[in-house]
Amino acid sequence: MKNSIDNVKKSYGRCLNTEDFIGQFYEVFLKSHPSVPEFFKDVDMANQKKLLRFGINYLILFANGDMAGKSAINRIASTHSKANMAIPPYLYQYWRTSLLKVIEKADYAFTPEIESDWNLVLEKGISYIIAHHDKV
Ligand code: HEM
Repeated sequence: MKNSIDNVKKSYGRCLNTEDFIGQFYEVFLKSHPSVPEFFKDVDMANQKKLLRFGINYLILFANGDMAGKSAINRIASTHSKANMAIPPYLYQYWRTSLLKVIEKADYAFTPEIESDWNLVLEKGISYIIAHHDKV
């Protein structure tokens, strides 16, 4: 896991060095499934882009067993849960594949190994958030 996390951290750094990486993610994600845009219709996207930049970092920290990562992912699980924004769990797979599409384009050193490292890291946080959908 440690190696995967190091690879993901470096890959994320390369991605963030490219022009409007998070903006590109939202462009792909909003088109990935017809249910996605309605959730963002009243959202300030400039602010949302800043928050997601941290959100991805929290997923990486969470996968690394970091306590600050765990508390941030608990908070995200709660805002996205059935009791709050009620994000349908099936949309997380669209979120993950959209992010991977954009990473593949943005990371000049992307390899199939880095792709599977990202999948490992993202799946950890996503399955945790989904498991808490009905509980928080
Ligand atoms: C693991 C995947 C995801 C992460 C890490 C993530 C992260 C975040 C973060 C950090 C925020 C800022 C506010 C907060 O802390 O709640 C947020 C807000 C939001 N997210 Fe997510 N999110 C994820 C998946 C999704 C999915 C699948 C959707 C589906 C449409 C979604 C829709 C939204 C919406 C609508 C907001 C609210 C914006 C607002 O009202 O200001 N998110 N997300």
